[in-house]
Amino acid sequence: MSLPAAGGARPDELIFFVNGKKIVEKNADPEQMLLSYIRKRLRLTGTKYGCGGGGCGACTVMISTYEPLSKKIRHYSANSCLLPICSLHGISVTTVEGIGCTKTRIHPVQERLAKCHGSQCGFCTPGMVMSMYALLRNHPEPSMEQITAALSGNLCRCTGYRPILDGCKTFCKESVCCQSKENGNCCLDQEDKLKGEEISSKLFSADAFQPLDPTQEFIFPPELMTMAENQPERTCIFKGERTTWISPASLKELLELKAKYPKAPLVVGNTSLGPEMKFKKVHHPIIISPARILDLNVVRYTDNGLIVGAACSLAVVKDALTKIVSELPGEKAKIFRALLHQLKTLGGQQIRNIASLGGNIMSRKSTSDLNPILAVGNCTLNLASRGETRRIRLSDIFTNGAGNNILTPEEVLVSVHIPHSRKEEFVSAFRQAQRRENSLPIVNAGMRVLFAEGTDIIKDLGIFYGGIGSTTVYAKQTCQTLTGRLWNEQMLDEACRLVLKEVSLPGSAPGGKVQYRRTLIVSFLFKFYLEVLQSLNRMDPHRCLDVPEKYESALQDFKSQMPQSEQIFQEVNPEQLPRDPVGRPIMHHAGIKHATGEALYCDDVRAVDEELFLAVVTSSQAHAKIVSIDLSEALKAPGVFDVVTAQDIPGTNEFYNYSDPEIIFAKDKVICVGQIVCVVVADSDVHAKQAAAKVKIEYEALEPVILTIEEAIKHNSFFEPQRKLERGNVNEAFETVDQILEGEIHIGGQEHFYMETQSVLVVPKGEDKELDVYVSTQHPALIQEMVASCLGVPANRIMCHVKRIGGAFGGKIGKAGLLASVAAVAANKTGHAVRFILDRGDDMLITGGRHPLICKYKVGFTNDGRIMAADAKYYINGGCTPDDSILVVEVALLKMDNAYKIPNLRCCGCACKTNLPSNTAFRGFGFPQSGLVIESWIMGIAAKSGLSPEKVREINMYKETEQICYIQELDPENLVRCWNKCMEKSAYYSRKMAVEEFNKLNYWKKKGIAIIPMKFPFGLTSSFLSQAAALVHIYTDGSVLLTHGGIEMGQGIHTKMIQVASRELKIPMSSIHFCETSTTTVPNACASVASTGTDVNGMAVKDACQTLLKRLEPIISKNPTGTWNDWVKEAFEQSINLSATGYFRGYTADMDWEKGEGHPFTYFVFGAACSEVEIDCLTGDHKNIRTDIVMDIGCSINPALDIGQIEGAFVQGIGLYTMEELKYSPDGVLYTRGPDQYKIPAVCDIPEQFSVSLLSSSQNPYAIYSSKGLGEAGLFLGCSVFFAIWDAVATVRKERGLSGIFTLNSPLTPERIRMACADQFTEMCALFSAYSSANECQRRT
Ligand SMILES: Cc1cc2nc3c(=O)[nH]c(=O)nc-3n(C[C@H](O)[C@H](O)[C@H](O)COP(=O)(O)OP(=O)(O)OC[C@H]3O[C@@H](n4cnc5c(N)ncnc54)[C@H](O)[C@@H]3O)c2cc1C
Ligand code: FES
Ligand code: FES
Repeated sequence: MSLPAAGGARPDELIFFVNGKKIVEKNADPEQMLLSYIRKRLRLTGTKYGCGGGGCGACTVMISTYEPLSKKIRHYSANSCLLPICSLHGISVTTVEGIGCTKTRIHPVQERLAKCHGSQCGFCTPGMVMSMYALLRNHPEPSMEQITAALSGNLCRCTGYRPILDGCKTFCKESVCCQSKENGNCCLDQEDKLKGEEISSKLFSADAFQPLDPTQEFIFPPELMTMAENQPERTCIFKGERTTWISPASLKELLELKAKYPKAPLVVGNTSLGPEMKFKKVHHPIIISPARILDLNVVRYTDNGLIVGAACSLAVVKDALTKIVSELPGEKAKIFRALLHQLKTLGGQQIRNIASLGGNIMSRKSTSDLNPILAVGNCTLNLASRGETRRIRLSDIFTNGAGNNILTPEEVLVSVHIPHSRKEEFVSAFRQAQRRENSLPIVNAGMRVLFAEGTDIIKDLGIFYGGIGSTTVYAKQTCQTLTGRLWNEQMLDEACRLVLKEVSLPGSAPGGKVQYRRTLIVSFLFKFYLEVLQSLNRMDPHRCLDVPEKYESALQDFKSQMPQSEQIFQEVNPEQLPRDPVGRPIMHHAGIKHATGEALYCDDVRAVDEELFLAVVTSSQAHAKIVSIDLSEALKAPGVFDVVTAQDIPGTNEFYNYSDPEIIFAKDKVICVGQIVCVVVADSDVHAKQAAAKVKIEYEALEPVILTIEEAIKHNSFFEPQRKLERGNVNEAFETVDQILEGEIHIGGQEHFYMETQSVLVVPKGEDKELDVYVSTQHPALIQEMVASCLGVPANRIMCHVKRIGGAFGGKIGKAGLLASVAAVAANKTGHAVRFILDRGDDMLITGGRHPLICKYKVGFTNDGRIMAADAKYYINGGCTPDDSILVVEVALLKMDNAYKIPNLRCCGCACKTNLPSNTAFRGFGFPQSGLVIESWIMGIAAKSGLSPEKVREINMYKETEQICYIQELDPENLVRCWNKCMEKSAYYSRKMAVEEFNKLNYWKKKGIAIIPMKFPFGLTSSFLSQAAALVHIYTDGSVLLTHGGIEMGQGIHTKMIQVASRELKIPMSSIHFCETSTTTVPNACASVASTGTDVNGMAVKDACQTLLKRLEPIISKNPTGTWNDWVKEAFEQSINLSATGYFRGYTADMDWEKGEGHPFTYFVFGAACSEVEIDCLTGDHKNIRTDIVMDIGCSINPALDIGQIEGAFVQGIGLYTMEELKYSPDGVLYTRGPDQYKIPAVCDIPEQFSVSLLSSSQNPYAIYSSKGLGEAGLFLGCSVFFAIWDAVATVRKERGLSGIFTLNSPLTPERIRMACADQFTEMCALFSAYSSANECQRRT
């Protein structure tokens, strides 16, 4: 064989198909991923970038391959961000554009997702569509289980997944009926929906959907079939700027290549190597792709097991295992079953479709879910190198610890042999992750025991753990010591002690959670012990004792049921005209475009001539002086235009709202890790990033470095002013109360994780210093102001445009202003258009999020549970600049009472100034934190007084009209109605009894239930912040162009505004178009924040429409039978102005912080939620079983959108309170910089039964059409899950004899839940830790 001269041979042409079109790429770059290729080169922008690392699914496409031997076509979903284009030779790609569009035909998946209200901001929607589409190509009538598996790798931050599942469910053959006719609401009981302009009152109707017709789909390109069949047996080479890709055609060639380039990695799925190259900047000059080699793709059943080729994807492995398990007797299939257990939740579907078995094994990552099982299962690896083959046991590569080099760099894994299990052998797999699905394990394990025949004597034992060291760890000593022992409790006890000693985790182990991980190590062992005990007993009851019934719960996975949901809302008055859309569940006006990928976001704006790209250089120090910046290497890098620093700012670099400024570029010193020091401008984002890595900054450390609230308190480091509210006589009240609750609670921060990262495109117009700024923001007027002042030009030269944004949740206000300023300075300096799209990692690092909070409190109450006095100090971590932190403190204080009356109250709040990235606005703005605080007091009071939490809530709840602490009047009638209705809907008391019954019978699993009321004050505390304007033009053909100051970020504001205009002008919604929000059409618009968008812009739109209608009235009354077009034409001919602005002055609001009095809010949104959960006491896992929400949102303008907001916010609240955890290094470096490390709720996390009811007959005289603003309120109700878990934990602790009062901090992650469920295992680990640290001390001294 002649080896390809990778250094000099002529590169091949890469041939593949995209959406049926042939692509021939002569200069295929191995470093280019499919995502950037289709977006930038093919201009197919429907596929989105969300993370770049395979963790979010926004980039999902369908891959189709043809296998010439079997003549089989395989379709599967894949993450295009991880697929090197060079891996696509001979492959067909389908993107969202390829399956349907508004110009031709919409695909049924696109139609159903949109019409079932499955898109809000729409950024995740193309990915969802493609995951579902790929499933349907293989299973046109999928089961619900297949649907949830198919969507497991797709994240959505807006919808809460329920409507997405509803849309997908419509393809199921099996009945997906909720089986409920209660209140006349059955999920199949839907009426006709939108047909043209006909409008109905149900959320959607499945009857109107187009059927799925598989014959209409793209066929696999025949040319590719021919190509595959006649493929010449030769190596393909693709050469890029820095990397050469070699794809050999035979094993022999592969082995030759590997001998020649031993350091070159083999790339199959690129799911391990890709993230390393991207995020850790590892560079490989040569990459070898073994995907075409048949030996590596075999799946062969043998007499004693299964042989699987190393390049087989995990999905293929899963299918093969499923088949063999269904055919084999159970005793032979135990290893296969254990593998299937792990494969079910390993990664998302897209990852399983491309990640290879060989890659998982050979990466030898500590987080491999397969290696522990393959190792205990005595699987063997078939290895080959030039002229040599050998077989080794997989366990051998882990036997002597991480450093062993039993594999040589020249060796290739060809296949893996997975043997049958034996009769006396038992194998189990365990894993626990931060999120149940698509989340790397915190700890996993594979365990196997073989008994001497007919006995319970251990003949052979294998225990392997993942998540403990740098690779899979073998508890060899433990296994050897226990061989020959009986399978009984003494053995278990010893096993736990031995394993803790052997699989040692030092206190400072990377990844943290040390005590939890130790606890999992022994908890898994305990589960294994019980599993085996039960199996032995079932084989022969005389062989050993059975597992006590109460303990069986340790062995069972959470039970799954068909997800059910229910949405109840008030229908419009039957007298309302059918053409009036207000109050009806109209689909998001861009829903279809979201689903077809035609909806454009900032980075979808077409490339501007000679545009440049930015990459940021951020501070690596938390607090330091900048000694020098060396740009020389960066400036020499390929494609670099310039580097922009603070010196290049013609205007202001610092913006002052408080005494500390917001800063665009760090100048002399840095105040947090992640602060922007400079940016590189280059001809591509790749070049910009490569050059940015070459900027050298020298720092001199400054003291102090303050990272936490505790450190800020110690150093007295606060932003001013601090705030205080006081009412009654707190000191006196404390004298008279029966009991006092004192303590502190910690609530963690939250990352916005909008699916569209911060994005801006600045285009200099070449004249009068004018700039067009296309930006993903909630506040274009602020962007305009900041850009103008940093450039030193008047605001009238800066035109900001926002079509829509892919989520924001408060994170795209001031931060977007700073980033737009950076891009504007670069555009100003270079004279070129500049595109600045933050990577997910940079976005998370730089932009901050929700404020962590600590509350130190003292609460006095009577023995009957009545709160009489509270004295509380709230500290939030503001980060390094003030941003909105003072306002967050104010809102947290003003809303701290939630739904409860506290007659004597003193609460103080301050924002801590620390050296973390500055925190900012986030949905709920302080209330989700302070509301959780008071609800935790309720739990404490209930525990101390012996009352149930719901009784304490009822006793203290506002019941009649009265003044709340800052003297604003509150009428709580609808609060009480929501509470009562929620009690009734959730059947609270009977379910509470059922929960108690379950808990009596189950020791290791517990259920919990909680019901939480909510009062959510609406408003912005200052009048001028809620002013709004609109501009409405009527054109002579009768069409209407509407614009207003609100931003479409998924909440459906434009849909609602079109509904308002349609009602006012009495014309169909289809005659009204919304183009964009722009500072040129509506100046000085306030931010779309604090749930106010519809309220205030709706008033302005109504005003504009009424002005126009008034002008038309004389014409209409003269010709009452005329049409809208007749009237418009006539008006034009009479020279009547057909354009009008509308204005709303804003709500009256005031707050005097000196006096602690005012009317900061306009009205109140009320609600209540009841949630039930089940926890696994041994792992800390939990499952959300059921949630019932009742919300008072007045008269909904659009129940589909409003219910969507409630559900989406609620699920974001579940994330805040139970899952999302930001982790920093001791030096202030954020570790959690992507969906791999930071877990937001996925489809597996929503309550299995999810009901939302809108309170009927509720009026609100303050807002448009009696509606209420509700974007934020639902988030807080996520805490009902938090308190349901608390309830379950309380039961556990009581049962274990831990009777003291306890507090749980947020988020209630698996770690916190497990550690709160103290038992013999946590105790054993605590003793072990104390013992090992004493030893460590002794050793040191
Ligand atoms: C979002 C995400 C979630 C994930 N979740 C999980 C999870 O929950 N559990 C889990 O276990 N894993 C998880 N993974 C890891 C994933 O399973 C592995 O990355 C994958 O199996 C590696 O296979 P690959 O084909 O992509 O490897 P590649 O990235 O292509 O290659 C990885 C390495 O393996 C070597 N290699 C590959 N094949 C061979 C061979 N035949 N012979 C010799 N060396 C070879 C290569 O040289 C390379 O160094 C996740 C990954 C991602 C991106
Ligand atoms: S962008 Fe590809 S998975 Fe997130
Ligand atoms: S609609 Fe899913 S992320 Fe916005």
